[in-house]
Parts: sequence; C-alpha cells; structure tokens
Amino acid sequence: MRDLFSALDPDQRNPEILADGATLLPGFAEAEAAELVATLVPITKAAPFRHMVTPGGHTMSVAMTNCGGAGWVTDRGGYRYTICDPDSGRPWPAMPAVFHSLATRAATAGGFPGFDPNSCLINRYIPKARMSLHQDKDEGDFSAPIVSVSLGLPATFLFGGLKRSDRPRRIRLESGDVVVWGGSARMTYHGVAPLAAAVSDNDPLTGNARINLTYRTAALTVAHRD
Ligand code: SIN
Ligand code: FE2
Repeated sequence: MRDLFSALDPDQRNPEILADGATLLPGFAEAEAAELVATLVPITKAAPFRHMVTPGGHTMSVAMTNCGGAGWVTDRGGYRYTICDPDSGRPWPAMPAVFHSLATRAATAGGFPGFDPNSCLINRYIPKARMSLHQDKDEGDFSAPIVSVSLGLPATFLFGGLKRSDRPRRIRLESGDVVVWGGSARMTYHGVAPLAAAVSDNDPLTGNARINLTYRTAALTVAHRD
C-alpha cells in the first residue's frame, strides 16, 4: 500500500514527473490488471515465453515474448524487430484491443496523445531476474514514446539519464503502475534491479513473477549488435 491517501482513494494518486517527457502514473492500469493478465494466457500459449540470447552470447534472465505486428528479438545475429516469432515461424499474436487502448490512454496521460503502438514486448521476471541499463533504440523512429506497464510482484525500476554514466533513480513499481517516456526523455537509460523474492504469498495475479508490458512503435529494422 503506497500511503493512506491512496488506499482511501486510488483514483487520486498523482502522476509523478520523472523528467521532461517522462511520467510515472501510479495505479493507472490497476483496474484492468486482472483482465490484462487473463488476456496474456492465449498469447503466451501461441508464443511462449523464452530466454533470448544477446549478440554477445549472454542468456537473458528475463523471459520474453511479444504481441503486435512487430516483436523485439535478440539472438547471436543481433537485436531487431520481426513480424514472425522465430521459434514458430508464425506471426506474433495480434495485440488485443484492451492492450492497445491502455497504452494509448496512458501515453495521453503522459503527454503523448495519438500513440498507436504496433509492438508489445512482454517481459516475465522471476526472483533474481534483472534487466541491465539500456536505451530502447531498435525502433527505427524515436518520435513515439515508450509505455511500460507493471503487473504482479513489485520491482525496482532504474531510471537514469541520456548518458549511461548518469546515476539512475530507483523507483518502486507496483502492479498497475505505468511509466511513459518520450520526447526529450525518449532515449533515457533504464533497467530493472534483480527482482526480490515475494515477501509473503505469491502475487495473486501473476504468481511468483512480475510481468512488464513495454509498448513501442517500431519499424522492422535490420539486426544490429550494439
Ligand atoms: C524493458 O526495458 O524492456 C523492461 C522494463 C521493465 O521491465 O520495467
Ligand atoms: Fe527497455
């Protein structure tokens, strides 16, 4: 529970400006969280979570899949977006209307109306899984923002600056929290600290895991390695 005020009236939780163009929207997706998780079931059946390999040969601790017209992938050949799931050869599952609508509404609340993402990367963290600091830079066009939705177990989001050496802020993200970054904040370095084990019981929504939905507008790019 964030504080007494939010417990009394969840709709009154205020957005927090993290930087010019970057906003934390506490609880923005809370009312839809159960529906989002249920909607993930057929998606992850058609395109199961997998641990991808970076161009450098490191197996990622976060398990990933995608929905939408373009899906982010990495393997020894590089980072890129693809139309098809390389594991099945079939197109990534379509982005459900509830997913798309949430992203558009959150982007608008974060100051970016008209967001029309064609890609949703679905990240699953179990305790100890982490994501090192990086920029989202494979999209080909950086005019659209990034919208990131947290579901399930809480995490510590690392939100840095435009340089890798900028010391990141540590932001606790709980289920239903949304972060939007675009404009002059679009290339912000960000990551996730190793996920802590659940304190008591597993999260009722996601079990012993955190799910993150990262929405992007992506062009189908050629593989690159840096
Ligand atoms: C990402 O940068 O793709 C994931 C961020 C997160 O899990 O919050
Ligand atoms: Fe990212």
